[in-house]
Amino acid sequence: MQVGIVGIGHVGLPTAAALAHLGHQVVAMDSDSEKIDALNHGSMPFFEEDMEALVAEGLNSSRLRFTTAVAAVADGAEVVFICVGTPPRASGEANLQAVEQAAEAVASVATGDLVLVGKSTVPAGTGDRLLRALEHYKLKVKLTVVSNPEFLREGKAVYDSLHPSRILVGSDSPDALEVMRRLYEPLLGEGGAEWIQTDIRTAELAKHASNAFLALKVSFANAMARVCELAGADVTLVADAMGADPRIGRSFLNAGLGYGGYCFPKDLSAFHRLAERLGYDFRLLEEIARINEEAVESVYKKIEDAMWNLEQKKIALLGLSFKPGTDDTRLSPSLALAERLMAGGAEVVGFDPQANENAQRDLPGLKVAESIEAALEGAHCLVIATDWPEFKDLNLREAAELMTFRAIVDARNLLDGDAASAAGFSYVPVGKPSIKARREGE
Ligand code: UGA
Repeated sequence: MQVGIVGIGHVGLPTAAALAHLGHQVVAMDSDSEKIDALNHGSMPFFEEDMEALVAEGLNSSRLRFTTAVAAVADGAEVVFICVGTPPRASGEANLQAVEQAAEAVASVATGDLVLVGKSTVPAGTGDRLLRALEHYKLKVKLTVVSNPEFLREGKAVYDSLHPSRILVGSDSPDALEVMRRLYEPLLGEGGAEWIQTDIRTAELAKHASNAFLALKVSFANAMARVCELAGADVTLVADAMGADPRIGRSFLNAGLGYGGYCFPKDLSAFHRLAERLGYDFRLLEEIARINEEAVESVYKKIEDAMWNLEQKKIALLGLSFKPGTDDTRLSPSLALAERLMAGGAEVVGFDPQANENAQRDLPGLKVAESIEAALEGAHCLVIATDWPEFKDLNLREAAELMTFRAIVDARNLLDGDAASAAGFSYVPVGKPSIKARREGE
């Protein structure tokens, strides 16, 4: 099947490469000509596990093409995906200008009937609005609107594109639903993805609801962490005990520094604004965001408490991306913490396996180190801010030698507290009792 993609970002690129892998002819378009040049030379616009190989496979097989020309996307395509950004407006609402522009651009060059698929995360009602907008265009062909939200995780986007748990398609047109089913056929069937077919509004809403519910779990875990700290209980064991109940599930119950990234924070506020506009005050969503901010403040207080005065103290901040497996630092809780620490007078030196460059772009005052060791050199406190697996294997005895003070604040509960104590560190985790440094002979 011939497929077009408009917008080559964290959603458009994995979608394009995965559909090419499934055997479709895919033309992906972005207005950023530097990005297109780089992609055509096999260079990725961001770090994403296995993406380079999947894109190379697509280019080599000639099933995947990158272009800046929207006409190339629409020409002969049966399906065109809109994967452009929906950034937040100052009000928290989603800005849908890029979606409208993309739809209009495709409509103006379409040479045959096609299915126009909304894959960007949008508030419920956007598909309907798009249908109304199409009525204004001077169309020579028939465009059918479909909502097909993505559930890709950054860092696992290739895996999630090829092994989705569900494929959600919303449309009022049986013909369009049939086209979408044919497109995804290789991923369906025994052991494959669940096919869920709804109207457009329901599909759009299900995406916002999914992200909001995952954020709710994270904030529930962080609120529990506060209670565990007051009660002297262990939040990880509470989460394990809760998660053993299949009705609850263990995932997304890790307390720490809270959620970040370009999805949860903006989707939560867009969902809240949508509910408000429809006439429902969904206050729970506000509370989820408030608890999330509290998570950063709570870790800040732990560091301040460990350091006494932050002035003249060097904080080694390990992990700058909003989660492991990505170089994405947008709305990273780690950077929020860095900013807070710097405002408090501390010197912050960050290190991230992938995100140093982006972190400096997003937080210009931040110093970054080329290695973990360089970040630790002379530091007074080691803070684990993102749970990259490589930090788990940190040689704590070597770290203790490099640092001025022996203090660890583990904002992701990643390290072994007893091992840290044995290496001479005072160890402060989240939502569980701190462990004192064990001295020689103890
Ligand atoms: C999220 C959803 O998981 C995807 O299904 C969705 O497609 C995507 O948003 C999107 O809307 O595009 P993503 O933003 O990549 O994916 O990140 P997640 O893996 O969901 O993690 C979000 C944040 O929650 C991270 O900052 C992570 O560190 C934090 N988190 C996650 C916790 O603090 N604790 C947990 O137990 C789990």
